Amino acid sequence: MDGKGVYIETYGCQMNFADSEVVSSILSKAGYTMVADIGEASFVLINTCAIRDNAEQRIRNRVRELRARQGKHPRLRIGILGCMAERLQSQLMAEEDNVSFVVGPDSYRKLPDILSRVAEGQRAAEVELSTVETYADIEPVRMGGNGISAYISIMRGCQNYCSYCVVPYTRGRERSRDPETIVAEARSLYRDGYKEVTLLGQNVNSYHCGGVNFAELMARVAEVSPRLRVRFATSHPKDLSDELLHTMASYDNICKCIHLPVQSGSDRILKLMNRHYDSAWYLDRISAIRSIVPECSITTDVIAGFCTETEEDHRRTLDLFKQVRYDYAYMFKFSMRPGTYAEKHLADDVPDDEKTRRLEEIIALQGQIALENNRQELGREYDVLVEGPSHRNKEQYFGRNSQNKVLVFDRNSVEPGQYVRVRVTDCTAATLIGQLVD
Ligand code: SAH
Ligand code: SF4
Ligand code: F3S
Repeated sequence: MDGKGVYIETYGCQMNFADSEVVSSILSKAGYTMVADIGEASFVLINTCAIRDNAEQRIRNRVRELRARQGKHPRLRIGILGCMAERLQSQLMAEEDNVSFVVGPDSYRKLPDILSRVAEGQRAAEVELSTVETYADIEPVRMGGNGISAYISIMRGCQNYCSYCVVPYTRGRERSRDPETIVAEARSLYRDGYKEVTLLGQNVNSYHCGGVNFAELMARVAEVSPRLRVRFATSHPKDLSDELLHTMASYDNICKCIHLPVQSGSDRILKLMNRHYDSAWYLDRISAIRSIVPECSITTDVIAGFCTETEEDHRRTLDLFKQVRYDYAYMFKFSMRPGTYAEKHLADDVPDDEKTRRLEEIIALQGQIALENNRQELGREYDVLVEGPSHRNKEQYFGRNSQNKVLVFDRNSVEPGQYVRVRVTDCTAATLIGQLVD
């Protein structure tokens, strides 16, 4: 150890992974070396998530586990970045005495200075949120990626204040990044051989900067090259415009996949969640997607057992799932988060075993729908961007189609990063199995 090795571990959403690339860039420029082996590190940074209690517990366990390593290497310093750092601030250092520093998501430019201070034995907390920081001028260091697909962070923060959600408190006010810097980053990735970019924000479709809205930004990025696929996440149903859907339809390289978190199928619960739409509005947006971008896949997030949710409310969620027939869903059990509106004004009154039962019912229904949707794909052909060897069978490769569905097929002579044509011959609920077509 020369005292300059930094190891980063990342938890949580894609935005955190994108942030870790910004952190790597800042620290590399300041003379630190990003290491892939924790054994070579003088600093371990943990970029954390606070979205649910179990996300935080996982990180607490990891921090405690690192004590053993610090026993052997007393100069090893541990720092907590990201949403949990922002939420708990110096309280986290008080509770976990082997943590030397906590740094919130808008303070990463201060890291070089913080690392030099903590190396000398100080402790540091930098958690101020900014209304302007977008790290627009920082070229992220793409770590651990596949050289094919990259994230581009286009906005930060969220001020929707869904009543269950901690993100507005951990990420601060919404702010959009200058479009020129976004397009320049996409161009430079394409020149470096990347074939796919995903534009990221907590609420990407409310992007606006200097008169450029999200639909216009998408078109500009799509113009970089027809060979560069463009994806985006996450969209809020209240801001999903027909203009965006028309832009998606008019560019082949804008991927036909929309992640549109619904959270609940009950209007009463949606109101309590402060989502600013009801199920009729949501279903209208689904119809708009189906008519303007017919080949689009649709995915969602849902929460089971939110405050006061009744069996009747839960049934409405199941009914909505049956109506929309999502291709994929991230399904969660409600977790009360300190500081949110729900925590201050609502009761976490659905018993845990009841939450579990409702969640399992949604999971079972969605598994069945995903399998039925995939069966409809048999015989269809898709352009697939090859990503690498299949995890199950090394003789096979996997890639994704525009709809973001994973296809697995025999390796033959294809290479990662290539586009190939694949015909679907079989499927499971999670994967399409296919054959290369000449
Ligand atoms: N900005 C995105 C999602 C952010 S968090 C959006 O608004 O859609 C990802 C998902 O975590 C949310 O969509 C929600 O389904 C889930 N989630 C957020 N807070 C939660 C909580 N307190 N308990 C359980 N799930 C939660
Ligand atoms: Fe959280 Fe709602 Fe913002 Fe998404 S839109 S990050 S769920 S507050
Ligand atoms: Fe988690 Fe923060 Fe993302 S709370 S989901 S890492 S914005």
